[in-house]
Amino acid sequence: MTPTDTKPLLLDHVDQRQVTTELDAEMADRNSLVELDPDHPGFRDAEYRARRNEIARIAMSYQPGSDIPFAPYTTEEHGVWRTIWEALRPAHQTHACAEYLDCLDRLAFATDRIPQLSEVSRKVEAISGFRLEPVAGLVEPRVFLESLANGVFLCTQYIRHHSTPLYTPEPDVAHEIIGHAVTLASTRFAELNRLFGEAVRRTRSTEELERLARVYWFTIEFGVLREGGAVKAYGTGLLSSAGELEEMHQATLRPLDLEAASVLDYDPTHYQAVLFCAESFEEMYSRLRKFIRQ
Ligand SMILES: [Fe+2]
Repeated sequence: MTPTDTKPLLLDHVDQRQVTTELDAEMADRNSLVELDPDHPGFRDAEYRARRNEIARIAMSYQPGSDIPFAPYTTEEHGVWRTIWEALRPAHQTHACAEYLDCLDRLAFATDRIPQLSEVSRKVEAISGFRLEPVAGLVEPRVFLESLANGVFLCTQYIRHHSTPLYTPEPDVAHEIIGHAVTLASTRFAELNRLFGEAVRRTRSTEELERLARVYWFTIEFGVLREGGAVKAYGTGLLSSAGELEEMHQATLRPLDLEAASVLDYDPTHYQAVLFCAESFEEMYSRLRKFIRQ
């Protein structure tokens, strides 16, 4: 039985991105940068772990504002990217909202190889002013969300293990690019992300931060809206996973109530049981904008 039989196809979430504030300690032993759980698909693959460490070192040596260094990917890993796209292309046509499909056209990156973060970042920045910056893997929610206020999206640069092309237990470059970077090629999505960052910066307690992180989760990561009578995805966690897109119609849909979303706990280890559905893109944009500017 493969992990895709038993687990959701994508787990990513701001609250699963830990660390990086104690970078110096982390860097003490660069050969053990990447700590994979024993049940991680790449745990027993020494070559994969070595490459993950190499890519992590790129992020750790990265100087904000400079060009993002080239990440080495293998032929096998480019194949993972192609497999992801083969599953997503039809799912996007059926389940993605129009704003997302427009963004995909705008970025027009290759689907037969993993694009470098640097090339995607340049395109996104030209459209919305947002930049991508590499991180080794796991970032504290406050660090991740506050960086949005500066128009910076912190991106992992490694790709999931080739044995499970449609499953990853952590955010990888496929989720970052196909989910987040694409939506950041929309000035309206970019504005919402930036406003989230500013709102998080204003928070003074863990409770306030958690409230905003939940709203981010139920909108930017897992939001859906109605378009032409159908329910379409605008959330990046949905849009970067064919499995999530297929499964989203099984969820209980609730009207877009951001107060309710701010106190609703979620389980990041399963397909989402509850999704908040806006009546239109405009409703989502205006209500979310108002809520996070309060
Ligand atoms: Fe995400």
